[in-house]
Amino acid sequence: MSELQLQILRVLDKAPITDTSVTFPEVETSAVQAALSSLTARSMVLFKIIDKESWTLTPEAEEIVEKGSHEYRLLEEVTKSLDGLKLAEVPKLLGTAGKLGQLRAFKNGWVKKDGDKLVSAVSSKPQDITANELLVIKDTGSLPDAKQLNELKKRKLVTKIKKLSYSVEKGSEFALEIKKLETDLTPDMIQSGLWKTATFKPYNFNAEGAITFSGALHPLNKVREEFRQIFFAMGFTEMATNQFVETGFWNFDTLFVPQQHPARDLQDTFYISDPAVADKPEDETYWENIHKVHEEGAFGSIGYRYPWSADESLRLVLRTHTTAVSSRVLHQLAKDPKPSRFFSIDRVFRNEAVDATHLAEFHQIEGVIADYDLTLGDLIGFMDRFFKRMGVDKLRFKPAYNPYTEPSMEIFAWHAGLNKWIEIGNSGMFRPEMLESMGLPKDLRVHGFGLSLERPTMIKYKLSNIRELVGHKVNLDFIENNPAVRLDEELV
Ligand code: PHE
Repeated sequence: MSELQLQILRVLDKAPITDTSVTFPEVETSAVQAALSSLTARSMVLFKIIDKESWTLTPEAEEIVEKGSHEYRLLEEVTKSLDGLKLAEVPKLLGTAGKLGQLRAFKNGWVKKDGDKLVSAVSSKPQDITANELLVIKDTGSLPDAKQLNELKKRKLVTKIKKLSYSVEKGSEFALEIKKLETDLTPDMIQSGLWKTATFKPYNFNAEGAITFSGALHPLNKVREEFRQIFFAMGFTEMATNQFVETGFWNFDTLFVPQQHPARDLQDTFYISDPAVADKPEDETYWENIHKVHEEGAFGSIGYRYPWSADESLRLVLRTHTTAVSSRVLHQLAKDPKPSRFFSIDRVFRNEAVDATHLAEFHQIEGVIADYDLTLGDLIGFMDRFFKRMGVDKLRFKPAYNPYTEPSMEIFAWHAGLNKWIEIGNSGMFRPEMLESMGLPKDLRVHGFGLSLERPTMIKYKLSNIRELVGHKVNLDFIENNPAVRLDEELV
């Protein structure tokens, strides 16, 4: 407790304080306010702000209060010199103030000219009105006469200031001493019973509090979550994608990517060196079907007609697309074929040169729809509905080629901001030899489509370089402070 707080309490004990600037003239307003605020927090006092105007003396006025006004000092000099004060002496004695003093002394009728001298024009010493007025202002901050006050202001002897002070009265918890305020209720206080008499500091609901450090969702995670919700809302089930390493069999062969296809080159695909190969899949028939379609054709396909290598098929790779997972899931579906919808959003790997828009790993969003007698029209209709949910309502499809779909279509969306069509995905109807070799019935058709997660995320967060989004150059501040994402607002 401060000495000032104690003083305030002692004064209050006798009577309310009407104006702290009168009761504590020496104490700075800020100190008074601090003392009152902490006493108020304890409900020991109540205070009101008195906002009043006050006048303060300029340095020149301070000098006048100390030494007398210029005109008064001139008169003193004139009376001192018995046979008058030479005009030439005035600046020497009074400096620059001499001229002003002379002017006022004449005006007051205190001195008069006698040749080149100034002589007294009064019989007795007059009152130094200016100095007296300034003294009153210095003591009280004001003058009763507003006109005189204004005059002094014009003469630049006083300036107006705003002065804060306070009126104070006792509060409900008034006491002559300040009790210690507890901030926490501790087990000790409960055991000792101290809590019954302790005074607790009131909660400050206006305090901002310290920011607690916590994890943050990466923008990719936020956009991924938005897509997941769209998929769930459209009746999709999430595929298990927790397997980055795949065999060539699932990643390529089941999708009829021929073994000499450039996509299977070392330059495009990461191969695992240890272990380099996997065991054969359990489904012997399926394995043989795939072998047959590649080498000689089956299920209506004429095949690629090349010597298919089992070793090549068993090589381990980092999956290059999540369609490897779709293939596994569709193979599973063949055990109990029925209309189904599956999706996945996860990481894939490609041995690509890294630049502003490409990384060696990225995320694919993939959807698979299986139903009886589906047509290409159904796929286009679905795409329209799917992308509409993301706020994209202008789509175009361009014929494309995938080894595993026929027909295949690239998906383009109109980007209003960029004012052009941009490619957003790839899609198609899985080939009959792919589905039938798994054991799926002929009339169960399957649509598939894929897009990258990075692309819509970069558009959404207005990033032009993928390295601002992924990798060691990412600004953590950006990750921690980026807003939640709403796809239906503006995706592309
Ligand atoms: N796998 C394709 C890609 O990587 C996407 C796709 C999935 C296309 C399913 C058709 C069917 O771009």
